[in-house]
Amino acid sequence: MKKGNVLVGQSGGPTAVINSSLAGVFKTAMERGYNKVYGMRYGIQGFMDEQYIDMSDHIKNELDLELLKRTPSAFLGTCRYKLPEIHENKEVYERIFELLDKLDIEVFVYIGGNDSMDTIRKLFDYSLLTGAKQKFVGCPKTIDNDLAITDHTPGFGSAAKYIATSTKEIIRDAMGFSYKKKNVTIVEIMGRNAGWLTGAAGLSRSEDCEGPDLIYLPEVPFNIQGFVGKVKELLEKKDVVVAVVSEGIKTEEGKYVCEYTAGSNTRDAFGHIQMTGTASYLANVIQGELGCKTRAVELSTLQRAASHLASKIDVDEAYNVGGATVKAADEGSSGVMVVIDRVSDDPYQSATGVYDVHRIANDEKVVPRKWINKNGDYVTEEFLDYVRPLIQGHYSPMMVEGLPRHLNLSMHNYDWISSKK
Ligand code: F6P
Repeated sequence: MKKGNVLVGQSGGPTAVINSSLAGVFKTAMERGYNKVYGMRYGIQGFMDEQYIDMSDHIKNELDLELLKRTPSAFLGTCRYKLPEIHENKEVYERIFELLDKLDIEVFVYIGGNDSMDTIRKLFDYSLLTGAKQKFVGCPKTIDNDLAITDHTPGFGSAAKYIATSTKEIIRDAMGFSYKKKNVTIVEIMGRNAGWLTGAAGLSRSEDCEGPDLIYLPEVPFNIQGFVGKVKELLEKKDVVVAVVSEGIKTEEGKYVCEYTAGSNTRDAFGHIQMTGTASYLANVIQGELGCKTRAVELSTLQRAASHLASKIDVDEAYNVGGATVKAADEGSSGVMVVIDRVSDDPYQSATGVYDVHRIANDEKVVPRKWINKNGDYVTEEFLDYVRPLIQGHYSPMMVEGLPRHLNLSMHNYDWISSKK
């Protein structure tokens, strides 16, 4: 029987490899005989405004596919949009399913994190109520690595590789600058309430780098005066101190350190506060109390967009996970998310499986306390052993005139090749 169409969307914060999953969805859908793959512009929010594209208009050959895999940020655009509960607003669902039927969609894939899995959960639940034909499958993605059940999430490995590399470079810079001069650098890493990415800075500790002096994860309450005391103690023994802090560290009273600064009042549809300014706040405190030179480095969006330093393991897994969503739906699954199972560490091997999305949506997997040292100011070797395999291998960008080339929806894919002939 002739197959209908696949609809795919990207949602939440982008990553360096989110488009590799999109490429995997497209390729597998074509191989499995689906007619078309439509891409939602700006996730479910754009789709409700009938914003979508036919992916075949943009991916014409293997070169486009390879370029897409190497393009950071969300090719289709993302949103942070919370669907209402079904009983609160049935019209929203009627509208979405009307559009799905109009486009003859059989498979709905949403690439995202825990908030995005909430969308899959609700659409699937609605499909059960109405007997709709569509299958709904979640494709994991987030640099935060905070999705339950899956061993890790696509996007995390590449961000971890960038963070560890940048931490090495920041330490080198600070060391080269310290003749008879004390300096403290504070590096702020994303990850909200999960410290997976912040802990990854510890990978920089190696034969040629002593690594950061302190690492603070959001899993352990943060004491500002305790931090000042530790830095003071370290400065009595050495000139350069580098501390890595999560954007989501909170005091014992439960207040985010970033809330002590101006400018962190914005919240998204899921109620998440926009976190920024933790490092600069702490750098000011240190400077005020200890009087030494300080510098705050907020890696911000660079850590999730650095496709030039993507991990090969991560790009390949993201691609496979994308393909596995279509395969799962094609073989009858719905209301599930594809998960990655770690098969072995040495050599590193993984496989994909599927899991009930109800167990995953809206949950946050944090770093276990046993993977953080007793003082709460560093990660353990077990933590680093878990992350290390995920940053391995390099996925070279396609360089044009000295810069990585990206696939961009608003341009003609072929001009850059033909203009070079
Ligand atoms: O969820 C991924 C993430 O990158 C978080 O680590 C970070 O707190 C958040 O997104 C930032 O989102 P935005 O760019 O919307 O402020």
